[in-house]
Amino acid sequence: MMLKRRKIGFLGAGNMAQAMIRALVESGTVDRRNIWVTNRSGGKLKKARDEFGVNTLDTNEELVDACDTIFIAVKPQDLAEALEPIASSFHEGHLVLSLAAGFPIEALERLLPGAPMLARVMPNAPAAIRRAVVGYCLSAGASSAEGSVRDLLAPLGYVVACEEGEPFQALTVSCGSGTGFVLEFMQYWQEWLEGHGFETEIARKMAVETFLGAALMAEHAPEVPFHDMQDKVVSKKGVTAAGLQSMREFEIERALRYSFERAAIRDSELAGRGR
Ligand SMILES: NC(=O)c1ccc[n+]([C@@H]2O[C@H](COP(=O)([O-])OP(=O)(O)OC[C@H]3O[C@@H](n4cnc5c(N)ncnc54)[C@H](OP(=O)(O)O)[C@@H]3O)[C@@H](O)[C@H]2O)c1
Repeated sequence: MMLKRRKIGFLGAGNMAQAMIRALVESGTVDRRNIWVTNRSGGKLKKARDEFGVNTLDTNEELVDACDTIFIAVKPQDLAEALEPIASSFHEGHLVLSLAAGFPIEALERLLPGAPMLARVMPNAPAAIRRAVVGYCLSAGASSAEGSVRDLLAPLGYVVACEEGEPFQALTVSCGSGTGFVLEFMQYWQEWLEGHGFETEIARKMAVETFLGAALMAEHAPEVPFHDMQDKVVSKKGVTAAGLQSMREFEIERALRYSFERAAIRDSELAGRGR
């Protein structure tokens, strides 16, 4: 089905739903008149109406009846309670995209046996500024809807097809949690600069620009491997080389890998609870 003709529902109007609605509307991907929203409490519905000009409905059942494409945008712990009472309203024409972390496709299939077209979606926080990494995987019945899924997610940022299981977890940890990990490093940069005499605001900006500069340099030359790019900015026995040698002696990579593994273990624990 053409994207412009889809009637798109958001079950839950919290942070991620709002980021997605903004991206879909501002990019011109979807007409705001084709978006419907529900939420457990009233305040966010008013915000959705006032700020985005989308339609709101009183019940999730009405949402499922009104829309052919439904984003499930509630917290994972609220998912079963939200879907169980309306599960029988879904039919094979519905495309359902779940944003809930820790709910694999097979768990969604059990919750919504009448809806074979399911997508599990994992955006990260920069979705709010349309610079997310967004992973998705599809149920077996949803392969014909892959184009629509990619088109719906494209306004959020970089869209990556991802197998369920270990690859999806790796994306969740490195890109989902990754935003938090990178901010931790940026905090170290800022604090070190402050410790060496820079004002907080200036130190913050210097940290941001250093990370942004490196990232943009890499983005501008996608064919150049990171280590080749690094070689160009490191002169032998120079200042950067001395710092890098120390980073390697302290095995920062090993510490990071360990942190990623710890996050993955936590993701598995939460997924176990989700099922
Ligand atoms: N935020 C992120 O960066 C991010 C990243 C990746 C994935 N996600 C996923 O996105 C989903 C939403 O996260 P969020 O950060 O947007 O959470 P959020 O801001 O708490 O939004 C969830 C919304 O769902 C509403 N809700 C709960 N139960 C409902 C029900 N039965 N019917 C209708 N609405 C209901 C809540 O209403 P109330 O107003 O009553 O609380 C709340 O507004 C989660 O599954 C999360 O794992 C988020």
